[in-house]
Amino acid sequence: MIFTMEMMAQLKEAAEFLQKQYDHKPQVGVVLGSGLGNFVSAIEVEKEIDYHDIPHFPVSTVEGHKGKLIFGKLAGKRIVAMAGRFHFYEGYSAAEVVFPIRVMKLMGVQILLLSNAAGGVNPSLKIGDLMIIRDHISMDTANPLIGKNPDELGPRFPDMSEPYKKYLIAKAKEVAAKLNIDVKEGVYYAVTGPTFETRAEYRMIHILGGDAVGMSTVQESIIANHMGMHVFAMSVITDLGLSEETITISHEEVLQAAKAAEPKFAAIFKGLIEAI
Ligand code: HPA
Repeated sequence: MIFTMEMMAQLKEAAEFLQKQYDHKPQVGVVLGSGLGNFVSAIEVEKEIDYHDIPHFPVSTVEGHKGKLIFGKLAGKRIVAMAGRFHFYEGYSAAEVVFPIRVMKLMGVQILLLSNAAGGVNPSLKIGDLMIIRDHISMDTANPLIGKNPDELGPRFPDMSEPYKKYLIAKAKEVAAKLNIDVKEGVYYAVTGPTFETRAEYRMIHILGGDAVGMSTVQESIIANHMGMHVFAMSVITDLGLSEETITISHEEVLQAAKAAEPKFAAIFKGLIEAI
């Protein structure tokens, strides 16, 4: 399903419903990737709403994704976190995948922090590394802006020269340095999944300029950029596509590696929210 004006009305309905349940304006939105859901324990929760209860919201199915919006305070700022995101490989259209991001914007969110588990294809990356996403490549995934352009949200042909804001990257690096946490920086290459990549594909992704590869994030980033939100994104490296030793990759391993790196990830997201 591509974007239609009917969807615009649905977005407004969902945002109005949420505003009735929670009458504050969240300034920062956070999307929690696979195995990174513990971050919510840092939030002074004011309201939790199941995706099931929100009109027109898609519903998450993947293991490790809880499926609720969490509203509350962190470092004195009002935030909304998505515990569980929607993936193209689950069968949602690209426009459905990004539905919650558009709702966040309608509720007033200006800064969006995205996270994910990703496979490392740059040989300098190790399992458990945090990689700040400097840029992305999304030639293999469906662009969520295909369809009628909702002019009231953004332009037909959005600029993508700084999809991840340099000032947010600089702040995150400062936070990481203060906390003595090592962070890498690189290009995220988006694929649809749900298969992990073949060895030849991991190699190709690296040759094409990717440092890490994953099945999420880019559609959300595109839609946020379209609406003029400021985006920051970070990957937790959960497996190594170019490793000679790793023969197979499983979702369980990805979740386990993400969970192990979660405290470092959460500390940086918290510090960044404090700093913005
Ligand atoms: N490939 C694609 N998506 C992923 C990977 C990977 O190796 N690891 C975690 N998400």
